[in-house]
Amino acid sequence: MNQQKIALVTGGTGGIGTAICIALADQGRKVIAGYFPPEKEIADAWQRKHRDNGYEFEIVACDVSDFESSQQMLHDVVETIGSVDILVNCAGITRDKTLRRMTPQQWDSVLRTNLDSAFNVTRHVVDSMSENGFGRIVNISSVNGQKGQFGQANYSAAKAGLHGFTKAVAQELAAKGITVNSVSPGYVKTEMTDAIPEEVRDSIIQQVPMGRMASPAEIAYVVSFLTDDRNTYMTGANLPVNGGMYMT
Ligand code: CAA
Repeated sequence: MNQQKIALVTGGTGGIGTAICIALADQGRKVIAGYFPPEKEIADAWQRKHRDNGYEFEIVACDVSDFESSQQMLHDVVETIGSVDILVNCAGITRDKTLRRMTPQQWDSVLRTNLDSAFNVTRHVVDSMSENGFGRIVNISSVNGQKGQFGQANYSAAKAGLHGFTKAVAQELAAKGITVNSVSPGYVKTEMTDAIPEEVRDSIIQQVPMGRMASPAEIAYVVSFLTDDRNTYMTGANLPVNGGMYMT
């Protein structure tokens, strides 16, 4: 009896998120994409487009920066679809500014959306995963959480925080059949990196030994490896996928 496993991808309608949804569906998972509530129309169109291409993704609204909203979303998912076996915490934003010009709002919004979100969502899946004796949790961090980035004190702090979160929770859940890992993408061709001023982006790409940005699918492949049923002994790890930009 091999029941189809359920995967929830927060930020699932975004650049990297979409590629992760496709990779997990190709792996035979039932995929649910989380989206930011004000973006309902965009999410509906996203769902229709992928349906036309043969992907039956579910979509759920959730403000991952809010604990109650995350709790409500997981409650609804369990009621209507089933308990989550695979969680990918992918929702994230940038509010780039040098520290001397960064506002408290820019700091807070990035910390809440990129770091608090991992707590807010993961907190509501661990009980059922523990009961089922199976779980795969992947936190999408960033090369900039490893090396820091000019203009990203907020983002670098949040993404570095995800590494600590990953390692702590990996220890807590290891005996329950749940693995918890992080992936640290480098610069990936998405709307987020399209927003970087062109000359800044060009100078960043020059620092990448592969001489180019990643495609979202190159990140998604590594997530699908981590969430594979056969990947049973890797936990608390961080997999950098950065074209050689930063090596630890
Ligand atoms: N090193 C040193 N100096 C730099 C620099 C760098 N890497 N980048 C910019 N500067 C300089 C500029 O030349 C400018 O100098 P002058 O004041 O002498 O003209 C100064 O720093 C900029 O200062 P400002 O106060 O005007 O900067 P700002 O607060 O408006 O911020 C910025 C500018 C938004 C940080 C802009 O440089 C930028 O967008 N940088 C890119 C940041 C980045 O990499 N973001 C990644 C987004 S994608 C992502 O995050 C995904 C992922 O995980 C990789």
